[in-house]
Amino acid sequence: MNKTIKLHNLNFKTMIPAAEIESAVSRIAAQINQEYMGSTTPPLLVGVLNGSFMFLSDLVKKLEFGCEVTFIKIASYSGTKSSGEVSELIGLNSSIQGRDLIVVEDIVDSGNSIEHTLNMLSGRGANSIKVCTLFFKPKAYTKTIKIDYKAFDIGNEFIVGYGLDYDQLGRNFKDIYVVCDE
Ligand code: IMP
Ligand code: MG
Repeated sequence: MNKTIKLHNLNFKTMIPAAEIESAVSRIAAQINQEYMGSTTPPLLVGVLNGSFMFLSDLVKKLEFGCEVTFIKIASYSGTKSSGEVSELIGLNSSIQGRDLIVVEDIVDSGNSIEHTLNMLSGRGANSIKVCTLFFKPKAYTKTIKIDYKAFDIGNEFIVGYGLDYDQLGRNFKDIYVVCDE
């Protein structure tokens, strides 16, 4: 299946079909099921909006124990200094004291966003915090934070679909597309 789409000024072509994404999501769910099945307190899945909404909704349907789901929304401004600044657009509305968290991201690229997210969550008494991402760009990653669950390693190409956007467009597609004219 080869399809191209145009979003704003860029053309994209099919890269990962929906069926392959589904298998990868099942693989991640199986890992999480195995790890948390017997635990007395179920994990709290923390979806990072907007990009993770589709991945998280498919992932939780494959978990075989009752779990809680919440969302955060963070805007990060890198500005002119490397330290950056993070603002919490939607914060946590539940206590994470003593909880086992799984932070669910769509993609980890440089790692700045996940670092900011973990900084924001740390110091609030969570028992453990794990990181789960659908896509990981190892060549772009600049951090040492462990990625506990990941579905796909990709190169530095720009992708859209399945929750990921190009300037807010393209989150709705069930397949993953890669930019083809950059
Ligand atoms: P990081 O902070 O550099 O790790 O980038 C993470 C954020 O950048 C993600 O949450 C996405 O919003 C965005 N991003 C990075 N790479 C891509 C991509 O290939 N497609 C769409 N968004 C991306
Ligand atoms: Mg994102």
